[in-house]
Amino acid sequence: MTDVVLNGVGKVYPGDHRAVDDVHLHIRDGELFVLLGPSGCGKSTILRMIAGLEEVTSGELWLNGGVANGLSPRERNVAMVFQEGALYPHLTVGGNMMFPLEVAGGDRAESRERVAELSRALGIHSMIDRRPGTLSGGQRQRAAIGRALIREPSLFLMDEPLSSLDAGLRTELRLEITGLVRSTGTTTVYVTHDQVEAMTMADRIAVLRDGVLEDVGTPEQIYQDPATVFVAAFLSSPPINLLQATAWAVQDRGVVLDFGSARLTVPWDDARSSALISHHGAPVLVGIRPDALVPVTGGAEERTITGRVRVLEFHGQDWLAYAEAGIPTVDAGSVGTRPRARPARPASGGLAGRLREMIGRPAGGQEPPREEHAGHHRRSDLVFRAGARRPERGQEVRLEVDLERMMIFGMDGRRITAVRR
Ligand SMILES: Nc1ncnc2c1ncn2[C@@H]1O[C@H](COP(=O)(O)OP(=O)(O)OP(=O)(O)O)[C@@H](O)[C@H]1O
Ligand SMILES: [Mg+2]
Repeated sequence: MTDVVLNGVGKVYPGDHRAVDDVHLHIRDGELFVLLGPSGCGKSTILRMIAGLEEVTSGELWLNGGVANGLSPRERNVAMVFQEGALYPHLTVGGNMMFPLEVAGGDRAESRERVAELSRALGIHSMIDRRPGTLSGGQRQRAAIGRALIREPSLFLMDEPLSSLDAGLRTELRLEITGLVRSTGTTTVYVTHDQVEAMTMADRIAVLRDGVLEDVGTPEQIYQDPATVFVAAFLSSPPINLLQATAWAVQDRGVVLDFGSARLTVPWDDARSSALISHHGAPVLVGIRPDALVPVTGGAEERTITGRVRVLEFHGQDWLAYAEAGIPTVDAGSVGTRPRARPARPASGGLAGRLREMIGRPAGGQEPPREEHAGHHRRSDLVFRAGARRPERGQEVRLEVDLERMMIFGMDGRRITAVRR
């Protein structure tokens, strides 16, 4: 039985650098729990505090029903896998997997049987007599996972174990890790910055930003019902449309979200409308995922936005279209209580300035990675899935907004009327 509880846990590194701030989490026995967030948000720091490799600065860490702040890594009985699985180069795969059992002084025949069984499950049985230096990255990582799992630890910690592998191998190993961890029932904390990995593997996900916990829930909960605009944007591919509007309560209609060139109405029979009344006359942020924008002919005025298609992209299963609708969009990274430092924009004018006007972002290429995949699209483009009714480039489109799936946030980045809370 291994529950992990973080009770207001904080970490301040020397130099007064606060890496983790007052995090409360309850990771339940047997859960596959994912810590997700962008680079530098404190994921590894939390994992290392759980492992006992990093001291907890404030708050309490509970393991197995007791405060563990002062316990050594050995006393915690955890196994950890890092990005580059560390193996002993002079030992074979089998020797590496055997090593923790030998240290523990187990029965040799039994240990050998266990190594054989686990190496088969990991698909590396045929390599059991080879040394790490002769293996591919994926095979080495499997061996490292095998070595960590062999001991049947009470807690399994993984820090981006797949991030150095290519996409195909990552998907394959992701499935195997999930299957293996579930079959052993070992509580697992898995760190990644990859939203797909998090969504596909996790029982529950915690999303971190700048050391602060933004949201916790099942993949469905945090995708469909995110607590903050940052979470909505982080778990959105293609990226969510984030638009600024002013909310107006109108007696006979509901709350009108005024985008300037377009208006959407949240009718009074929609539960969100009453919470929006307190925002009357104030700016709000509206999040619309690309699949909640459907091209229509006709469509009611209070549910549609009109735009002109600028760019079409083929994505295999469907087409993505980018339309100019004259509505300024917002960068999720700049919203919230802890705004990130933005790079200074290069001086306007000259080629850099003209390029910037064309592509709508600084030509210096210093923007956060989140925006990079939309490189040739203007920041004000609305993205939607064009589906079977693919419009032409330059065509005017009417986009019906699925109001049920539209998300509304305050300017502090917090959701107005999240369903779960
Ligand atoms: N030993 C250290 N001393 C000082 N600061 C540190 C130390 N380790 C990490 N940090 C800082 O703490 C913050 C969180 O780091 P951490 O390694 O936990 O992030 P992360 O979410 O794992 O990022 P990544 O995805 O890049 O691995 C960062 O700002 C980092 O620079
Ligand atoms: Mg890390």
